[in-house]
Amino acid sequence: MKKKIFSGVQPTGNLHLGNYLGAIKNFVELNNDDNNDCIFCVVDLHAITVNQEPSELKNNIRETVATFIASGINPKKSIIFNQSQVSAHSEAAWIFSCVARMGWLNRMTQFKEKAGKDKEKASIGLYSYPVLMAADILLYDATHVPVGDDQRQHLELCRDIAQKFNNDYKVDELKLPEPLIQKEFSRIMSLKDGSKKMSKSDSSDLSRINLTDEKDQIINKIKKAKTDPLQMPSSIEELEKRPEAKNLIGIFSSLSDLTIENTVKEFSGKDFSKFKDHLSQVLVDKIIPISKEIKKLLNEISYIDEILFEGCKKAEDIASKKIKKIHEIVGF
Ligand code: TYM
Repeated sequence: MKKKIFSGVQPTGNLHLGNYLGAIKNFVELNNDDNNDCIFCVVDLHAITVNQEPSELKNNIRETVATFIASGINPKKSIIFNQSQVSAHSEAAWIFSCVARMGWLNRMTQFKEKAGKDKEKASIGLYSYPVLMAADILLYDATHVPVGDDQRQHLELCRDIAQKFNNDYKVDELKLPEPLIQKEFSRIMSLKDGSKKMSKSDSSDLSRINLTDEKDQIINKIKKAKTDPLQMPSSIEELEKRPEAKNLIGIFSSLSDLTIENTVKEFSGKDFSKFKDHLSQVLVDKIIPISKEIKKLLNEISYIDEILFEGCKKAEDIASKKIKKIHEIVGF
């Protein structure tokens, strides 16, 4: 049996190293394995849960597709499409919002973080966004969902929705997906604060490496990345007490396919500045080719639009059949 892989990325601009190491790098490996059928979705309906400038959103949708391809996803092997073009996503989200319970959504920590203190002013979409995410996954009978650690709770909610739907309607229609979250490197932290996730919404551009950054920007951001006054750690145990060192070592290990143990051993007791030179180098080697390819692809808009058009047709074909079954089960 082939694995059915589904994942999504929001087209909100500034795709960064966290998105790459936590999710997109995995997408590429899954796409390269012939035992998998992969679907990668540009989740534009999710993006409008917070304000978006329409013309920028259009560009960001294309840039997200360009990032997938520049990172190594083969559009001939995987379906790439944007969520808004397959109407079953919105329909299923409504039906599942009648299955999900307020109590379940009230527990979602990401809503609390994103809404901040003024949650009365947050959109209803931001609150119910995990239900839309469940619709994305369940429409395609996804067996595995590769995501970063911040999406773990949303995947649990997706499984709860599938289970309750099956129980309530006494069917076995919705498949419970398995999360694919890496043990290490699944939460890349801000370069300015080792306790905060690297995020596209951080107001400081110095907090993240964007996948479109130039060489000088990468070197400058690593130079300015927060560290502590000590030398490089000499044991894994030490890392737990030194979040900035842990994050930078994690980034280096992930990019150079080394274990954390080996990286710690290699740089033990050395100056941070020495380590930062090596880190900048591996980052430049990895990110610059991707960054160049994204920029090249963005000059080939018709090629990107063709990929989305073909992807939408294939996604529509799968999702429309599934929503039809869901309609019948519900009694429409
Ligand atoms: P989004 O767009 O915020 O992030 C896309 C992917 O990048 C991962 N990620 C990170 N991983 C490690 N460290 C970080 N600092 C970091 N920041 C982001 C995220 O975990 C995610 O895998 N709701 C989702 C998109 C979505 C989705 C889906 C995912 C919509 N429908 C269905 C899977 C299946 C989101 O907002 O991801």
